[in-house]
Amino acid sequence: MSEEMIVNEDKSLIATEAQEEKAKPLSLDEMVPSQIVAELDKYVIGQDKAKRTIAVALRNRTRRKKLPQSIKEEVYPKNIIMIGPTGVGKTEIARRIARLSNAPFIKVEATKYTEVGYVGRDVESMVRDLMGSAVSMVRRELAAANEQAVRERVEERLLDALIPNVKSTATTDAQFDSARISAREQIRVQLRAGLLDNTEIEIANVPMRSKVGIELMSGSMEDIQNAMNSLGSIFQNAQGGPRKQRRKVTVKRARELFTEEETERSVDQEKATEIAKERTEQMGIIFIDEIDKIAGKNSSTSSPDVSREGVQRDILPIVEGTKVTTKWGVIDTSHILFIAAGAFHVSKPSDLIPELQGRFPLRVELDALTADDFYRILKEPENAITLQYRELLRTEGVEVVFGDDALRRVSEIAAEVNSTTENIGARRLYTIMETLLDELSFKANEMSGQTVEITSDYVNERLSDLVKNQDLTRYIL
Ligand SMILES: Nc1ncnc2c1ncn2[C@@H]1O[C@H](COP(=O)(O)OP(=O)(O)OP(=O)(O)O)[C@@H](O)[C@H]1O
Ligand SMILES: [Mg+2]
Repeated sequence: MSEEMIVNEDKSLIATEAQEEKAKPLSLDEMVPSQIVAELDKYVIGQDKAKRTIAVALRNRTRRKKLPQSIKEEVYPKNIIMIGPTGVGKTEIARRIARLSNAPFIKVEATKYTEVGYVGRDVESMVRDLMGSAVSMVRRELAAANEQAVRERVEERLLDALIPNVKSTATTDAQFDSARISAREQIRVQLRAGLLDNTEIEIANVPMRSKVGIELMSGSMEDIQNAMNSLGSIFQNAQGGPRKQRRKVTVKRARELFTEEETERSVDQEKATEIAKERTEQMGIIFIDEIDKIAGKNSSTSSPDVSREGVQRDILPIVEGTKVTTKWGVIDTSHILFIAAGAFHVSKPSDLIPELQGRFPLRVELDALTADDFYRILKEPENAITLQYRELLRTEGVEVVFGDDALRRVSEIAAEVNSTTENIGARRLYTIMETLLDELSFKANEMSGQTVEITSDYVNERLSDLVKNQDLTRYIL
């Protein structure tokens, strides 16, 4: 993977985390097509046809749910193939749908699968993964109701873990108890303030029942040791106790593990599985990326023993509707919606086996992106690249202002480079912006307090020579 891709991935990660902080959006179930499109518009520029088609397909499933049972069974989802060059938003659309839906959703790469009987992932695993994600989604929802109780329980367990339960012989029971109680409250304060996050404790590997399997570790726990010392030598070092199957983790990590365990305990598993199964079967969406890579007969790139056509044949029954056994029960795939995507540079949808083509009646083409699109992509999305840079540099106390003409110029350059070298769509913007702001990024820490305006002159100065020189362009942009 090239440098530019890594940068790109990183950025979408930042954006992802920021978005998850936000309040839960409308559920996909309630959204009408125009709302779904409007939601997608926040992140994906253009590609209206694709957005519409997907919005309708999604809405149709909600409509289907309202039908009387006899008709309902007859209405199958209309699967979609998205066709378009690289970097124009195919995966991005899918990613956004996943975010805004409470429908179970997974994205898989067609190339990851091998024909049944060969080493590798078999295609049925995508259904298992889908159900798996539905189960965790439902569990999360159910657990959200118990959040407060879970948090309290986790805190108590951490406190149990941090405060040794070993009494030195010279201490009376009463002394010991009262010391424990005041130590507990002191440590609770520290714990809540996050002061102990990096303190190491030992926890049992296997989740224990109610009594917590954690003991104090000596040495690395200065904070606690200090608290203890102020209480005199009432506590002994708990290091000597029996140790079975324990491991050292930080308080921060232990909190995560405990939260997981306690959440698990607070949720009715049977109920979660039941809801998840219903949701998977009725609302599940499987996004199969890179479908073009398993189309086409001559498999020059794949090894001879992993037949692409074999994978297609394996996918077929799943798309058609079959029963897949999972550890949560049998899942009927008849009404799962499949969205496939591929660039179809080399192969065409007609190179897929005919049966499979028939299962994907809806075809939408995504358009190649123009300089105008690039301009909007730089500015408009809620996670726009310019916004990301602005926020990143703001952490150094540097205020970056992107002039409109500068963004126009960057867009032109992106379109130009795409046409003269390889067309990698919007991904080009990432490499160009990186080069453009390279120096600023490097020096930002020395520039605290300054405002930097990016003008079209700045852009020309930094990029024009590169653009003129084909060889340089190829390597740098
Ligand atoms: N229409 C668009 N609007 C906003 N951003 C876009 C658009 N198209 C692409 N991008 C950005 O470019 C990057 C690559 O897009 P994406 O992953 O969707 O490409 P793709 O169409 O799936 O390409 P490939 O065929 O290579 O998988 C993403 O980070 C995305 O944010
Ligand atoms: Mg993609």
